[in-house]
Amino acid sequence: MGVAPNVIVVADPGALAETAAGLVVDAAAEAVRARGRFALVLAGGATPRATYARLAQAPFRDRVAWDRTWVFFGDERAVPPDHPESNHRMASEALLSRVPVPPAQVFRIRAEAEDTDAAAAEYARTLGEVLGCRRGELPRFDLVLLGLGVDGHTASLFPGSPVVREVFRPVAAVHAAAALIPERITLTLPVINAAARVVFLVAGAEKAKVVRAVLGEQATLPAAMVRPEGGGLVWLLDRAAAALLATPEAR
Ligand code: 6PG
Repeated sequence: MGVAPNVIVVADPGALAETAAGLVVDAAAEAVRARGRFALVLAGGATPRATYARLAQAPFRDRVAWDRTWVFFGDERAVPPDHPESNHRMASEALLSRVPVPPAQVFRIRAEAEDTDAAAAEYARTLGEVLGCRRGELPRFDLVLLGLGVDGHTASLFPGSPVVREVFRPVAAVHAAAALIPERITLTLPVINAAARVVFLVAGAEKAKVVRAVLGEQATLPAAMVRPEGGGLVWLLDRAAAALLATPEAR
């Protein structure tokens, strides 16, 4: 068992967005101080939207060195960037169009490509080039934001998928039969676990059972396999999502 995750319980989705925005600001400040740049991976789905919107507002907006920030995505669905189900579109609407991050420092996953394996390999090459990796070295993000599906998936790492067992490639194309849009491209566990910090954003009563499973003994669920080597793992939950945990005291 690695370092125990830090579980933070807040009252509601609004408090979760506020707290998450603060965690992003803290991670950015530490990364820029230590490495001169902040490599941030954005989560998809619906939950993070409120966090991105809060981050785009004062005081958080003005506390991030956006000119020193490089933005990546944890996964993307096989849809064009203007599609309602696009994670890039959600992040652009809620955050990227509202802060002065240079567009050349935002790296979209081209999951709509005909050949998603080639697009995954292309994204992996981009990560290596932008983050200055030596050959065979894993890209090291400063902060990876993740969501949690009710089945225990995170990013597009779904239970039973062979990609969950990937040990070399940092990025992979997946076919997630259970997902609304099955064809996706996702970061893999090795590159997620190489990050300095990982923060899960989880809200809502429908997630309470899977939160208990992932934080309990079901270490085989993909989200439970997120164990950053440096130990920087935070589970940020609202009270409803934490309801089945032993001591869900809200902050
Ligand atoms: C995606 C996300 C996925 C998401 C979970 C939770 O592309 O859908 O990467 O892992 O975080 O499905 O989604 P909600 O926040 O919408 O519940």
